[in-house]
Amino acid sequence: MLAGKRVLLIIGGGIAAFKSLTLIRELRAAGARVTPVLTGAGAQFVTPLSVSALAAEKIYQDLFDLTDEAEMGHIELSRAADLVVVAPLTADLMAKMATGLANDLASTLLLATDKPVLAAPAMNVRMWQHPATQRNFATLKDDGILFVGPDEGEMACGEFGPGRMSEPADIVDKITAVLANGPLEGRHVIVTSGPTHEPIDPVRYIANRSSGAQGTALARALAALGAEVSFVTGPADVPPPAGVRVIPVETALEMQTAVQAALPADAAVFAAAVADWHVANASDQKIKKDGRGVLPVLEFAENPDILAEISHLKRNRPALVVGFAAETDNVLKNATAKRQRKGCDWIVANDVSPETGIMGGAENAVTLITDAGSESWPRMSKDAVATRLAQRIAEALA
Ligand code: C5P
Repeated sequence: MLAGKRVLLIIGGGIAAFKSLTLIRELRAAGARVTPVLTGAGAQFVTPLSVSALAAEKIYQDLFDLTDEAEMGHIELSRAADLVVVAPLTADLMAKMATGLANDLASTLLLATDKPVLAAPAMNVRMWQHPATQRNFATLKDDGILFVGPDEGEMACGEFGPGRMSEPADIVDKITAVLANGPLEGRHVIVTSGPTHEPIDPVRYIANRSSGAQGTALARALAALGAEVSFVTGPADVPPPAGVRVIPVETALEMQTAVQAALPADAAVFAAAVADWHVANASDQKIKKDGRGVLPVLEFAENPDILAEISHLKRNRPALVVGFAAETDNVLKNATAKRQRKGCDWIVANDVSPETGIMGGAENAVTLITDAGSESWPRMSKDAVATRLAQRIAEALA
C-alpha cells in the first residue's frame, strides 16, 4: 500500500506519543520507510531507543548535531521524504508552525520542507478549544497543512471532549489517501477562476459577481486526483486551494498572459468569469468630479477570448479544453452554440439567473455538453460538481 514511500515522522511531546510507536509499526507493515524525529518534549514520553528500534532507522533529535549535519543536513532531511507527519502535534508545536518559528529541529524541518505535511493534533480539550489554538489551526489549514483528528473521547487527563490523537490505523489511512497515486498523476491542468477586475482608474474597477468558488473547488478536486494544477485566479472571494500552483492575476489581459505562460498542459479548464471588455481610456490618476456635473466617458475595448484562443491553438493545444457557459436564458441552445464558436471540447453550462442563487452561491446545476451530446446533472454542491468533473477529465485523459 505504501511500498517505497518515505515518511518523516515528527513526534511531539504529549502523552499520545506512545501511540506513535504503534503508528511506526503500522506504517512499516504497510511498506513505508519511517525516518523519526523526536522533539525534546517528545523524548520525555517515549525513548529515542524504542523509536529508532521500531523504525529501524536513525533517529534525529538535535538541530545542532554536527554528526547529523555531516550525514544529512536538516534541509535535505526535510525534503527527502514523500510526506511529513507530525504525531502527536502539541499546542506548542502548532503555535510554532503557525508563526513560522524555527528554534529546534522539528520546527525547522517543518518550515524548510517542500513536501505535504499531515498533522495529528493531541492535547487537552481546553487547550484545543482555546481561541489561540483555534486561530493557529485555521492559519495552518489556510497554509495547506493537512489534518487528521483530533478525535473526541476520554483523555489521559480525565477530561472528555475533542483533543485525543486519532488512532494509528486512522492516521495510516489518511497517509495512504494523501500519498495514493491518483489517475491524474503526471498530468498538468490549467484552471482559470474568479472574476477579473478591469481598472477605470487607480482606485476604481469594473468587476462581476463571480466568487471563484466553482473554479477553486475544481482545482482542489483535480489536485486530489494527482494533477499538477496551475491555478490562474482573478481576485476571488474564496482562498485558493492548497497543493496547486497559484498564479494571481487581476485583469483579463494578465489572465491571458498567465495562461499562455502556463502552457503546455494536458487539459485546461476555463472557469473564470472574464470581463468581456476593459476600459480603453483608463486613467492613471484618480478621476475627479469637475463640479460641473459633466460625466467622464469611458471607452471600452474588447478583451481577448482566452478560451477561444487556447482552443484554436495550432501548437501546444491542450488535449482537452473545457469552457463554462454562464447563461441566463436558453441555456442549452446558447451553450451548444458557444461550444462550436469557441472551439472547445466541452462546455459546462449553468443558469446564472438571479433566482437560481448559483452565482456566488454554494450549489450549481450544470449541463455538460460534449461532442456526444448533453447531459444534465442534478443540482448539487459546487464541490460535488468539481469532483464529478475532475473524474470525467481523468477518464478523458486516460
Ligand atoms: O463568452 P462567454 O464569456 O460566455 O464564455 C464563457 C467561457 O469563456 C468561460 O469558460 C470563460 O472562462 C471563457 N472566457 C475566456 N475569456 C474571455 C471570456 C470568456 O476565457 N474573454
